[in-house]
Amino acid sequence: MTSPFDQPVARDHTCSVKFDARKAVFGREEVIPVWVADMDFAAPEAVTQALVARAQHPVYGYTLFPDSLFQSMIDWFQSRHGWAIERDWILMAPGVVPSLHAACLAYSEPGQGVIIQPPVYPPFFSSIRQCDRTVIENPLILESDSDQGPGRYRMDLEHLEQCAARADARILMLCSPHNPVGRVWTEDELRAVLAIARKHNLVVLSDEIHCDLTFEDGPRHTMLATLAEPDDAVVTTVAPSKSFNMPGLGLSAVVIPDAERRKALKTVFQTMHMPQCNPFSVAGFEAGYRDGGPWLDELLVYLRGNRDYVVEAVNRRLSGIQVSAPEATYLMWLDCRALGLTDAELKRFFVQEAGVGMNPGITFGEPGSGFMRLNIGCSRSVLSEVLGRIENALAARS
Ligand SMILES: Cc1ncc(COP(=O)(O)O)c(C=O)c1O
Repeated sequence: MTSPFDQPVARDHTCSVKFDARKAVFGREEVIPVWVADMDFAAPEAVTQALVARAQHPVYGYTLFPDSLFQSMIDWFQSRHGWAIERDWILMAPGVVPSLHAACLAYSEPGQGVIIQPPVYPPFFSSIRQCDRTVIENPLILESDSDQGPGRYRMDLEHLEQCAARADARILMLCSPHNPVGRVWTEDELRAVLAIARKHNLVVLSDEIHCDLTFEDGPRHTMLATLAEPDDAVVTTVAPSKSFNMPGLGLSAVVIPDAERRKALKTVFQTMHMPQCNPFSVAGFEAGYRDGGPWLDELLVYLRGNRDYVVEAVNRRLSGIQVSAPEATYLMWLDCRALGLTDAELKRFFVQEAGVGMNPGITFGEPGSGFMRLNIGCSRSVLSEVLGRIENALAARS
């Protein structure tokens, strides 16, 4: 049986970063683009209809955030995640990354420290460094006790406590679920994070943009805020962009129950003249959260099939490469260390010899050395071609 997600959607020449920046990023057009984190699937029909309806009103003036937008988000998080958000807690922002940066400005002083857990989404590093804060690294630990793939990552809670105890530490930036290693943090892990943050007076900046992308057969995502005590300093960023494949629309939300902390971030947003409000983002955001559920459920079944297909094929057919099944996200973390290549050689091998454009693991921090990130948000036939190309390139080397 074919799925709607098997139908390719041509993305060349649509100003797509993933497709149209190939020459700039990889030095050649002839790579299959399985890198930047958007999917090759058409967004939910409800989103497209909302955009078309908005476009049909031909005045694209300055736009407000309507109550219905907030309600769609509140209803989504209540029904999907058991998280009761109050309307007043929400600040809107163009993207999650600008909010990470703004939060560093709001909750720390120049030179102070922000803890992150690499390998992690590269803007976690840049959003801290670009405002002259100090990156404090608490690398994840890879436990190699799995019978399939390289193993499972966990947080180094002991070392996290040491990082948090530093006099300069102010913020802990949590990626939950974690890009690129695909972990859904357990309630125990999240409670431990909250306890450490409470003890050392840290603001936890919890980026939960991937919260909807978990699988039926795996652990459920827990919103950190649902475990927090009233006095805990939790700032949560969310967006419909990954869930409904519309990151180009550029609209996200920050949820901050505490009024003082909310005011501090709002002040930074105002100095940056944010949020710029785009009528199309508003329409897409609301339609995604209000009507995108059935589409997302189908998507997750398809992604699970992709995930299982890649796990099986990589571990059986690609000698020197291993992968474990992610618990969340459409991103897979290929362990290529056994190939014995430097990071530069690894990149060259995949781009030049295999013709596959993935994200080098090293861009996620030093612990990502020897890994590559594969985006499986595409039709299975594309993955089949990707795996075939890598298999052939490996064979040509041996
Ligand atoms: C953890 C994480 N945060 C944020 C983003 C991007 O957020 P935005 O496009 O809203 O800035 C991504 C995109 O891949 C991500 O993986």
